[in-house]
Amino acid sequence: MSHLTDKYREASRARNAMAPVPGQMMEDVLAQSTVPRRTLLRGGFGAAMAAAFGGAMLTACGGGSDGDAAATPAPAPAPAAPPSPPPVSYAVTFKGIPASVGDQVTVPEGYTMDVLFAAGDAVVAGAAAYAGTPLDAAGYEQVAGGNHDGMHLYAIPGKDPNTNALLAINHEAPDSQILYTGAASYNPATATADQKKIVLSSVGVSVIEIERIDGKWTVKRNSAFNKRYTGNTVYQVGGPAATLVGPTVVGTLNNCASGSTPWGTYLTCEETTDNYLDPSQPEVGYGWVVEIDPQGTFPATKRTALGRFDHENTAYMLDADNTAAIYMGDDSTPGCVYKFVPSARYNPDDRAANRNLLDSGTLYAAKFNADGTGQWLELTQGRNGLVTGAQDPGNYTQSAVAPAPVTTNFATQADVLVNTKAAARVAGATLMDRPEWVTVGPDKKVYMTFTNNGPRVQTDAANPRPNNSHGHVLRWDEDGNTAKATTFKWEVFLLAGDPRLATANLKGNIVGDTFSSPDGIGIDPQGRLWVETDASTSASTTSTFGNNAMYHLDQVTRRSTRFLVGPNGCEITGLTYSPDLTTFFINIQHPTGTWPSNVQGNALPPRSATIVVRRSDGKPVGA
Ligand code: FEO
Ligand code: CA
Ligand code: CA
Repeated sequence: MSHLTDKYREASRARNAMAPVPGQMMEDVLAQSTVPRRTLLRGGFGAAMAAAFGGAMLTACGGGSDGDAAATPAPAPAPAAPPSPPPVSYAVTFKGIPASVGDQVTVPEGYTMDVLFAAGDAVVAGAAAYAGTPLDAAGYEQVAGGNHDGMHLYAIPGKDPNTNALLAINHEAPDSQILYTGAASYNPATATADQKKIVLSSVGVSVIEIERIDGKWTVKRNSAFNKRYTGNTVYQVGGPAATLVGPTVVGTLNNCASGSTPWGTYLTCEETTDNYLDPSQPEVGYGWVVEIDPQGTFPATKRTALGRFDHENTAYMLDADNTAAIYMGDDSTPGCVYKFVPSARYNPDDRAANRNLLDSGTLYAAKFNADGTGQWLELTQGRNGLVTGAQDPGNYTQSAVAPAPVTTNFATQADVLVNTKAAARVAGATLMDRPEWVTVGPDKKVYMTFTNNGPRVQTDAANPRPNNSHGHVLRWDEDGNTAKATTFKWEVFLLAGDPRLATANLKGNIVGDTFSSPDGIGIDPQGRLWVETDASTSASTTSTFGNNAMYHLDQVTRRSTRFLVGPNGCEITGLTYSPDLTTFFINIQHPTGTWPSNVQGNALPPRSATIVVRRSDGKPVGA
């Protein structure tokens, strides 16, 4: 959840008695424990060497070894085998950068940054990009939405994905500054039909074909793959709750983070359980994971079996027998951690056979026990208290006196799925400090960020700090290292904060470069862990941590090294890579200064954008 989303949903939040995004409440706490501004631009910590581990090795682009054999003269002794190229190293050696503020993206020495795809850029073939003059409703439906967030790169059959691929990108909220005058104060009760359509065009997903020519990635204009999915699009509904939701829903929105599946589809996650941009639509239609085929071969479908809550991203674990588990978090104050295990196995030989794999399976919520063990509690009607007349304990972590339980009826599995938050609480799942992204490494270790929970009162082992303004990261191993596990072992990987802050609760235990409010997290295919932040962007926070940034976290030493710092006002989010890891794609969400016009050489307003980060020498990023 970004603070812009929180602003858009203000009326809805009040109606549903939801907590505001607590990241903004951090200011009160930080104001009591300021760090001298002169300490901000301290040097970055030395780069950490990390052993890349596990996982299938990817062949580097151009790494073939048979090109020199023809040079062997004849007659001659039997030619020796051509020398093998040196193995590509993915060990992390980049020189960390200091915390900073400013209206630019800062990357380490030897790296480049290019803007690839900004809000208002053309998507659909023939579309006219936003160029400073507002478009009409039909025009906005064909260009990039705003607040770029989760994304994933997909191969195109028959193409080298290191130079030509599809990028699916989420749009969490409108970039109102490129819409009609007054869009920043959008009110669905008074908006005209055109204004409503424009705002709903600005959320959803863009699918774009991209190609790298002479070292530069660009959007391939007029590709038949280029497509928008918006708040005006009609979506299919699959899974057990279709009986309550109906066969179709108009619109997706609050498309915050996302994930991919083993069968090459994109899961865009709705981080809202109502359509606050168009409240005339039934609330039950929102709060789902929506499956999109980047190749466009089947209709986008809301997969209700995965539960309805404020979805952040998804990440999967795949067993050797092709059983998958999809991990998910509910970014609520507080929210639970979930996983979904499809009933059927993934079929790697028949893409179409996986089309409805997410419509049947078992949904679980996590209970983190104080002794470091954990249980996956099955959210199936009739089990774990999920019956008619169940007593929902509510969000009891947020107050000294627990709220009165609320009677909640789970008569069918559809009831469980449309009211998943309550089902998890009834089953006894742990209420966590705003679960954001989850990632699964090649070694099957699972990491999840818990961004913050300023109003937490009741603590537990997995959420150990009251007034948790800076958040933390947990790590767990499934027992038996399998997606099918119903138990796990967990630990606190780190507590975010800064030791220079005055209050013990705010110091955290980060080794190296400090940060607040971890949000995006991803383990790349070479097992390297990256985290992105979404802390408050006011001066009282940036004076300690600098602008929001991206860090490498060594999984052994836990040392944090700052890799990238974003421009003023932004959140850093979204992370995907070319398979050879020579390109990282990262999203800059809601900048407030002059970026990226100050690097693009135009006079457009600040815009959310996808950037490309590469090394000047073309070697893997991070190494
Ligand atoms: Fe849109 Fe939970 O971040
Ligand atoms: Ca966030
Ligand atoms: Ca987020």
